[in-house]
Amino acid sequence: MGQRMRVTLAQICLLLTVLAGVRTFIPGADGNYDARVQAEWSNPSFSSRISATLDQQPTSITIARLTELDEALYHCRVDFLVSPTRNIGVNLTVIVLPSQPFFLDEVGNKVKDRIGPYHEGDTLVLSCLVIGGRPPPRISWYSGQTLVDASDGASDIPTVRENELYLPLTRDNAAELTCRASNTHLRPPIEASLEIELYLPAYNVSIYFVEGTIQDVLQTGKPAVVKCIANGAYPQPDLSWWLDHKHLTQHSNQSWSNSTRTSVSFLELTPTVVDNEATLACVATNPAMAPSRGSKADVITLNVTYSPIVEISRVDDGSLTEVVELDSLALECEVKANPPVDTFKWYFNDSLIISGGIWGDKVSSARLVIEETSRRHAGRYSCAAANAVGETRSDHVNIPVYYPPECTERGIVLIKETIRCSVRALPPPDTYFWHVQPAGSDVQHLTTGSHLLNLALITGPLAGQCTLKATCEASNGIPSQGQPCVRTLSLDQLRPPQPKQCDLAYEHGEFQMRCIPVENATYYELSVWRMSPSNSSLYLERRGSMGFGARQALAHGGGVWLVRGGLGVLRPADEAGAAACNRYGCSEPLLLRPTENLLLAASPPWWHFVMDKDVGISVGAVVLVAVFLISTALVIKLARRPRLKTPTPVIQVLQLDDVTRSYIDNIADNKVRASCSLRSCSSGYSDGSALDEPAAPPVDRRRKPVAVWEHWDAPPPDVTLTLHRESAV
Ligand SMILES: *[C@@H]1O[C@H](CO)[C@@H](O)[C@H](O)[C@H]1NC(C)=O
Ligand SMILES: *[C@@H]1O[C@H](CO)[C@@H](O)[C@H](O)[C@H]1NC(C)=O
Ligand SMILES: *[C@@H]1O[C@H](CO)[C@@H](O)[C@H](O)[C@H]1NC(C)=O
Ligand SMILES: *[C@@H]1O[C@H](CO)[C@@H](O)[C@H](O)[C@H]1NC(C)=O
Ligand SMILES: *[C@@H]1O[C@H](CO)[C@@H](O)[C@H](O)[C@H]1NC(C)=O
Ligand SMILES: *[C@@H]1O[C@H](CO)[C@@H](O)[C@H](O)[C@H]1NC(C)=O
Ligand SMILES: *[C@@H]1O[C@H](CO)[C@@H](O)[C@H](O)[C@H]1NC(C)=O
Ligand SMILES: *[C@@H]1O[C@H](CO)[C@@H](O)[C@H](O)[C@H]1NC(C)=O
Repeated sequence: MGQRMRVTLAQICLLLTVLAGVRTFIPGADGNYDARVQAEWSNPSFSSRISATLDQQPTSITIARLTELDEALYHCRVDFLVSPTRNIGVNLTVIVLPSQPFFLDEVGNKVKDRIGPYHEGDTLVLSCLVIGGRPPPRISWYSGQTLVDASDGASDIPTVRENELYLPLTRDNAAELTCRASNTHLRPPIEASLEIELYLPAYNVSIYFVEGTIQDVLQTGKPAVVKCIANGAYPQPDLSWWLDHKHLTQHSNQSWSNSTRTSVSFLELTPTVVDNEATLACVATNPAMAPSRGSKADVITLNVTYSPIVEISRVDDGSLTEVVELDSLALECEVKANPPVDTFKWYFNDSLIISGGIWGDKVSSARLVIEETSRRHAGRYSCAAANAVGETRSDHVNIPVYYPPECTERGIVLIKETIRCSVRALPPPDTYFWHVQPAGSDVQHLTTGSHLLNLALITGPLAGQCTLKATCEASNGIPSQGQPCVRTLSLDQLRPPQPKQCDLAYEHGEFQMRCIPVENATYYELSVWRMSPSNSSLYLERRGSMGFGARQALAHGGGVWLVRGGLGVLRPADEAGAAACNRYGCSEPLLLRPTENLLLAASPPWWHFVMDKDVGISVGAVVLVAVFLISTALVIKLARRPRLKTPTPVIQVLQLDDVTRSYIDNIADNKVRASCSLRSCSSGYSDGSALDEPAAPPVDRRRKPVAVWEHWDAPPPDVTLTLHRESAV
């Protein structure tokens, strides 16, 4: 027992005191105590620690501060007065505790409190040593409360015992290591502890959704918070987030609890459509360890819901921009959706397509099929798809339905010098095939790139042909136009207008026809109709062309010039006609008849004869001249023009009134048939055009000349502005 202990040996002499008169303790051979003399110890060092109490029963001795050396056989001898002496022995064993255990590492260095760092799986080699102790102590190793090694033994050094530990380190056994030394049950073992620093990867890593989800289901655009917990790593691990193998750096923060060895990281995630079925990983990496050994991860697959993404495509191999009438058309509503789409809808020109009519029955599935397209199917299509999250409508797809050209109600029309072919077609035609046939000529085949055909492209003469048969057929790549457009056109409207302002004059010894040129005329025709004395009908005496007069030069100055032609000699009741002509024929001629004045002026011999013979007639002539002068003076006043001296031609302006005109028309009817080209098939003289061209608007012949002549540039003197109103008879 411990050296500082007091040992009381009391019971040994208990029984004997009754009997004994003298009691003596004899501690071995070293010393003794005799109660008769009290405190008689042979060993002085011992005697200071021992005390005996003999006046109490039982009698005892107390040894203070026991030492190893106090171990001995103690005797109690009792001498009786009347009985034989008794001797009783007590064997005292003193147990000596060993020293505090201490640690030595593999190479013999002393280790205190903490060792490491180690990695999992390393073998820890550590000796626990104890000095002294009697009896020799047992040394054992404990991991926590678990005995891991009890194989102790003597060391090379005397009085030192040791236990060398070979411990493969694991997560479980590497807590606190304790070395216990014990050589008695009377006292708890003497122990020393040591902490092992062991680098560990995370034991497990888990991802949880914290907010923004419903049963772990995400929704696009809605932020969610994800939490990652890594347990059991040492030292603090790095937690990193990976979305589909892409490192997320922005949105995480990390906290670490040293005591529980728990690392927590939060990630704020706003998922998009592409994140559906993406993998989200949280990787815990121990920075103190090789990445291959120190990492642990949890991986989840994201379920991101979104309202459908919709697009229209065509199922059959045709393109979306080209559907030909009567072909079939199958449209597919291509969707990407999570969760899957419940309902489909189709829209045409923004109205919901309902089954029946031109649409058939299947109008609410992902596919819209039109067996036979018609023009009514052309328009804007869109489809809508709905799932639990929402409904989305696709962009419009504009689908035209192509069809071959077909003639419209207008068909072929003549506008100015252009033939226009009106067809309905999609796409618009790029080529037009024409077959034109002027009456009495061969068919000409022409091709144009537009719907207009200029008459200039038609070769050969057109004048004299009153009609033109035109056929047009368009092509737009879609086979093929059923019926060509056909029409017989009248070219009458293209002829120049009838000359309106003409006069007859007697100049340079002959009658002359003079006209103000009309628009679009390329040449002028002159005709002289002579009254036959025998059968009282007009016949064509001569015809010719009119040319520009001397005043042509004035044209350049912007003035008006005249076309004029010589008529030769005219007699009463003769008529002179002027027609304007161009490529398409001649206008109706303006017919003028010389007045008596003019005829008089043209025949001086006859005048002189009358003057000589008949005074009465000369008086009458004077009256006539007076009347003529008065009216001339009136006109001159109006015109306010100075009188020119020479020459002094006599001019009579004539226009026919309606009565005269219809009369001439009627008598001409008989004879003009053969001279269509001369009089240009104009209504009055023609044998009737095949076409009902609208008649030219009637001209108020009574008033127009006055107005027109006001613009006459420098009218000649002696102009008689009277209308010839007498009947032609
Ligand atoms: C006393 O005890 C010790 C150890 O217990 C033993 O070795 C010794 O022999 C004993 N002596 C006697 C006399 O019994
Ligand atoms: C992770 O480990 C800890 C402690 O080791 C345990 O409590 C927890 O249940 C584990 N989690 C999972 C998901 O295995
Ligand atoms: C980490 O992020 C979470 C969620 O955003 C937040 O609640 C927490 O306060 C943050 N921690 C730190 C240390 O910033
Ligand atoms: C963590 O705890 C250990 C003891 O458990 C201590 O030795 C160490 O210093 C602590 N580390 C930090 C960073 O607090
Ligand atoms: C995702 O969540 C939706 C809604 O709960 C569910 O219908 C769907 O089956 C889930 N998808 C996957 C792949 O788990
Ligand atoms: C649909 O719209 C297109 C123009 O986008 C139009 O040409 C077509 O006539 C419309 N169809 C119907 C039936 O309204
Ligand atoms: C003359 O021809 C031009 C071009 O063809 C046309 O515009 C104009 O109307 C014509 N004039 C008359 C009076 O016919
Ligand atoms: C009238 O007489 C002319 C000759 O003076 C002749 O050319 C014409 O044919 C005759 N017309 C008729 C209808 O007899």
